[in-house]
Amino acid sequence: MSNQSIVNQGQQYVMNTYSRFPIALVRGSGSYVWDADGKQYLDFLGGIAVCILGHCDPGMQTALNEQASRLWHVSNLYWIQPQVELAEKLTRLSGLDRAFFCNSGAEANEAALKLARKYHYRRGQSQRHQFIVFNHSFHGRTLATVTATGQKKYQEGFAPLPAGFVYADFNDLESVRRLINDETAAILLEPVQGEGGINPGQPEFLTAIRSVCDQEDILLIFDEVQCGMGRTGAFLACQSYGVTPDIVTIAKGLGGGFPMGAMLASDRAASGFAPGDHASTFGGNPLATAVANYVVDVVSSPSFLENVESMGAYLRQGLNKIEDKRIMEVRGKGLMLGVEFDREIRDLVEICMKLGLLLIGAGPQVLRFVPPLNITAAEIDQALAILQAALKEWQ
Ligand SMILES: Cc1ncc(COP(=O)(O)O)c(C=O)c1O
Repeated sequence: MSNQSIVNQGQQYVMNTYSRFPIALVRGSGSYVWDADGKQYLDFLGGIAVCILGHCDPGMQTALNEQASRLWHVSNLYWIQPQVELAEKLTRLSGLDRAFFCNSGAEANEAALKLARKYHYRRGQSQRHQFIVFNHSFHGRTLATVTATGQKKYQEGFAPLPAGFVYADFNDLESVRRLINDETAAILLEPVQGEGGINPGQPEFLTAIRSVCDQEDILLIFDEVQCGMGRTGAFLACQSYGVTPDIVTIAKGLGGGFPMGAMLASDRAASGFAPGDHASTFGGNPLATAVANYVVDVVSSPSFLENVESMGAYLRQGLNKIEDKRIMEVRGKGLMLGVEFDREIRDLVEICMKLGLLLIGAGPQVLRFVPPLNITAAEIDQALAILQAALKEWQ
């Protein structure tokens, strides 16, 4: 089937929830994908920060195939070795104590919000039900996580939204302090805001938030769905800040393309949940955890993380060198970079695609770079050359 015939069929039968580009992708290898008409693209969005080992990584294939011939799915009423192993690795690597597995970022955040409320409830503090969240954040599309998301455009038309969310300004400690009271259960934030425009948290802000939470008996939840899993050059972004939250959520890169999410928590926070409090039929299933075990082994190795840091610096340097008056700022951390323009970038993204480079925005004016984490310098050079050519064409 051609691009056009797949697009036509999709437009007829698939629900209209995405502004999709008019191509159908059929194959991937490393940092490249191919469309149904055989055109090759350099993939610098990697399923939006998901394909951290690129496409069809041989080790991931082996992990999946070996598990697929052994056991696909059993209920979480039974133990399975790959899930237990993954929980041990993730807790060891994060410095936290316990893992809960699910299938997506929104589901991991939903679990974190529920855990925070139940934690206070079990301690006889059920009045502590309120979450402090941040403007320009993004936490998912379920009713609770879309309410936690501090961007009105995602909430419009879904009222009444769940109660108990108040909004502070990111990197503004005073705006957080003003919202704290006896009802505060948790503070939820992305250490590096993704969808909101690639906004890194300031180290002093995150450190101060940790102290405030300790003083006020408030749980600190970091949403690392986009910025975790090696993306910033540390296994978790919080580690590069030297701040340990009580709860961390991860997803996206965890399965490297296999749908997968997790919530990690300290023993203290995790004590909020008892059997029956939360569950997910598919969460941490044998296939997902077999793949994630492989991904985590690769991504947590020091040499892999060093490459993320050096390739991130290399890409950033290349972006900084581009001379274009429409560029306002290059910012981000590791291989999570954003270039802010003085205008909307949808047309620029389309020109890049035409020239063979897949990119995506983070908000209307920020071009986002979240390539595979094993990207090479030669691939970065290629992306920068295509971007320069696209900027020339972009009126
Ligand atoms: C920081 C963050 N949290 C949560 C989500 C939601 O993840 P999912 O789409 O897997 O539900 C996203 C998705 O972009 C995200 O970037």
